[in-house]
Amino acid sequence: MSQTDKRTAYRAKLLTFVGDPATTAGGACFEEDGLLIVEDGRVVAAGSYSALRERLTPDTTLVEWRGKLIAPGFIDTHVHYPQTEMIASPAAGLLPWLDTYTFPTERGFADPEHASNVAEFFLDQLLACGTTTALTYCTVHKSSADALFKASEARNLRMVAGKVLMDRNCPEFLRDTAQSGYDDSAELIDRWHKQGRQLYALTPRFAPTSTPAQLEACGALARLHPDVFIQSHVSENTDEVKWVAELFPGHRSYLDVYEHYGLLRRRAVYGHCIYLDDYDRARMAETGAVASHCPTSNLFLGSGLFDFDKAGQAKMPVTLGTDVGGGTSFSMLQTMNEAHKVARMTGHHLTAARMFWLATAGAAQALGLEDTVGTLRPGSEADFIVLDPEATPLLARRTGLAQSPEEWLFAFAMLGDDRAVQETYAAGKRVHRRA
Ligand code: GUN
Ligand code: ZN
Repeated sequence: MSQTDKRTAYRAKLLTFVGDPATTAGGACFEEDGLLIVEDGRVVAAGSYSALRERLTPDTTLVEWRGKLIAPGFIDTHVHYPQTEMIASPAAGLLPWLDTYTFPTERGFADPEHASNVAEFFLDQLLACGTTTALTYCTVHKSSADALFKASEARNLRMVAGKVLMDRNCPEFLRDTAQSGYDDSAELIDRWHKQGRQLYALTPRFAPTSTPAQLEACGALARLHPDVFIQSHVSENTDEVKWVAELFPGHRSYLDVYEHYGLLRRRAVYGHCIYLDDYDRARMAETGAVASHCPTSNLFLGSGLFDFDKAGQAKMPVTLGTDVGGGTSFSMLQTMNEAHKVARMTGHHLTAARMFWLATAGAAQALGLEDTVGTLRPGSEADFIVLDPEATPLLARRTGLAQSPEEWLFAFAMLGDDRAVQETYAAGKRVHRRA
């Protein structure tokens, strides 16, 4: 019997969610002495050890992790796998960074072997950080998406990815056309969307690098495939916002460009969302489009500060993204750390419970994947992580003095990174173990 088929129970502290801790009392469920039972790649049960111990049948393997924490695998809603090797490349803001580092780096993905090599390394990094689902950009090359999906399928991961659409305002060697971008995306949807655990995302890079004809074609494809994801960037940087106003005159706002082409809807995920106005935020909420807040990137590139209060007032769905290589870490714990500081800069307090929600169940709900991943609910795919409160001497001291689950989790969010992730599981199978 393979590891995924057998019934296995894990005894540890558990963290799962039934609602957003910011708006639902008891939204976060913390079990001090918990049991997670997994079979055939899915969660069978999760709860207190005392309530579930009678379900430990003689054929169940019991794994003892007392003192550790089992949480749902992290969901990174905005990352660029081709930018893995160019992480930590400094520039004076977004647009020079794209020209100086990003476009030359993405050129290399015309070579499928290079793409496969980076895709494997990228997935190793995600899993080492406890990220089991990511919405990842590929490059303009169709084969770059094939490389990522193949690598993900081989590990049975639930990944969302798409070929970048880009037919202007970038080097010639990275351009598709409205027609070829449409055809390639349609072919990739046929090949990969819902192929095992793989999901497709239409990926117009951002409005400046697509002609109106390309956005029109993308919108048409989105209408044909209502359950396909859409991912792009919006309102990240003031120079970018000005540029969009010049390129698309007559639109109320940057976000309105996407709305005009039918690209605001459920399962549409927009990176950054810093310079939205209240009307934009309301449109995001009304259409079910999702914001991906990428704090390490926004600080690194000096883009600006995401406004959690305004997002909350508008009921705009918010998630967290690393945005590597603009972001400076693959770790969603480090991303929580920076999100907390960004929130503080606008007078907002992000609790640890909320940050873990944003990185797991909240993201799954925003993406329409709440029955699939993001919690430890029975029936969910068993994508989960084991966090070690004694991963470093400092983390051990701080967690040892925590007076509440909130304080204990907060220490992980401030002090944790890949070192805190002891093991990572996808569909019930171990896919990473800390050295
Ligand atoms: N806007 C357009 N492309 C990109 C990108 O690759 N990274 C970031 N952070 N912003 C973008
Ligand atoms: Zn990005």
